[in-house]
This record gives sequence, C-alpha cells and structure tokens, in this order.
Amino acid sequence: MAQVRVARRLPEPAVRLLERAGHDVQVLADERPPDRAALLAGVAGADAIVTLLSDRVDGELLDAAGPGLRIVANYAVGLDNVDLEACRARGVRVAHTPGVLTEETADMTWALALAVARRVVEGHRLAASGRWTGWAPMQLLGTSLHGRTFGVVGLGRIGRAAARRARGFGMRVAYAGRSRNEEAERETDARPLAFEELLAEADVLSLHCPSTPSTRHLIDADALARMKPGAILVNTARGDVVDEQALVDALAEERLGGAGLDVFEREPRIHPRLAAFSNVVLAPHLGSATVRARSEMARMVAEAVVEVLEGREVAHLAA
Ligand code: GLV
Ligand code: GLV
Repeated sequence: MAQVRVARRLPEPAVRLLERAGHDVQVLADERPPDRAALLAGVAGADAIVTLLSDRVDGELLDAAGPGLRIVANYAVGLDNVDLEACRARGVRVAHTPGVLTEETADMTWALALAVARRVVEGHRLAASGRWTGWAPMQLLGTSLHGRTFGVVGLGRIGRAAARRARGFGMRVAYAGRSRNEEAERETDARPLAFEELLAEADVLSLHCPSTPSTRHLIDADALARMKPGAILVNTARGDVVDEQALVDALAEERLGGAGLDVFEREPRIHPRLAAFSNVVLAPHLGSATVRARSEMARMVAEAVVEVLEGREVAHLAA
C-alpha cells in the first residue's frame, strides 16, 4: 500500500480515487495550509504528495519525504511553488492541472474587467447603502469597452480563452508573449505586438503569463508609466508579475483607469492601500473557484498520482 500525503483537504473525488486505488491517504491540514514543520514531518515516508500553491516544494521538502517519493501532484496549473529542477534531480515526477480551469479563470478575468469598467462594486455599495436617491445622468459613469483594445500578456490557454470573450464584447485583441501563437491569432484576430507597444495600445491589459524569474515584476513602474492613460489592469495570473507598490503609486497618481486583481504579491497579504481605491476591485484568488473546476482539479491530481504509482504514463507531467 503506497503512502499518499495530501497537504490540505481537497474537494472530492481526490481522496476517494486515491483510496479506491488502494493507497493509504493522509490529509495533513484542513482549511488553512499546514505550517512548514507540519508539512515536513507529515510527508516523511510518502510515495506521493499532493501539494497546493501555498506549499513550497523544494529540495528540503523532497528530502523530508525521503527516497521513496515518486510524484508531486500540484493542485494548480501554476508551478511557481515547485522547484522543478530539485524534482528532476531526485527523479520525482511533477503533475499539475492545466486545461480544467481555463474557462473559469477567463470568466474571472472578465468579471474583474467589467466590474472595474462599469463600477459594479461602487454601484453595489451605493445600492445597498440605503442612500441611493435614484437614477441620475452623471451617476457612476464608467468606461465603454466596445471597440477598445483588449491586451493579452501571454496568449496561452487562459489568455486565449479571455481573448475569445473579448471578441464577444466587441473588443479588438492584441497580445504580447514569449512566442507567436498563430492558431490563437486566427481564432481571436489577435495582433501580435512588442510588449511596449501592447502597453501603449491596450485599454484593458490582462495578464496571463506564468510567474517565472523573467516575468517577475514585468508590470513595474516603467511598464505602468507606458500604459495608456485610463487603461485598466487585470491580473488573474500570479501576484508577483506586478510590482504591487508601483501599482499603488500609479493608482495614486490617477494615471490608470483602475485595476482588477485576483492575485497578490504576498498572499494572503494585500497592499493595504489597494483596498482604498474606488477604482480597484479585489478578489481573493478565485480564478479556479467553481465547483466544477475544483473537482476536476481534484480528479486530475488523484489520477496522476495513481498512474505514476502504478507505473503508467501520465498526460500532464511537468517533470
Ligand atoms: C491557481 O492559481 C492555479 O495556478 O491553478
Ligand atoms: C494555462 O492554463 C495557460 O497556459 O494559460
């Protein structure tokens, strides 16, 4: 019986599939992540570990598990919490959950873009306050998106799904990325631009790149200064792609139209000044937070673990 450790309680069918395959499953924490010491102690002797984006998977953790460890299955599409080299060096396979949260994350992108452009949260506050005095010609006027440019940073699966929605909203699509994606260009009429050009042209700039050393603070003070005045920044990718302090400064100078943020540099901490801007909408990392996406992610990590433990081929291996 293989030893499987799951860092935190997950939706089904995660544990059900693992147990049905005959494995001994231990869940190390409930709602909040296990602290580091509990995680290190908890994985000792594991053949497989299911981790979350809040768990750092590095050489220390792999060594704490010991030489029997065969797979780390990360309950996320992003792998920025996983040291892939350390896994490769120890012959530990790495699985993640691409594909099953693409549409949900693209929806969240648009929830934020529209909420900022059309001042939905300010409107909710007014409507719920009991102080609304009625329809007024100048009340809470927002930004029209139709005919404007939706700028995608990273036209991968999620960027492409967000771009597809932009077409539905009558927006033009432009993108910058590490490489051309001609199939996605054809589908969404996306124009490839240099990053600086994209900054200057986008009315909504939406981030869909992974967090890597080269995308860290991609949106820094310089990039923010190059953005079109009044443009809206949307981040459903990873917090550290944006220099949060530089964003606060740009918002304070009223150069941007606003920001919709689902991810933050130091989660769960959020720069305290972000919440004070009326043109900023914050969400607590909800990109994949639907019942369907989270249970599909649960199924994927469990299946990857079972397949690797049974010596079968796995589709979504990152290492
Ligand atoms: C969530 O942010 C993920 O990477 O799945
Ligand atoms: C992630 O799913 C991406 O490639 O955009």
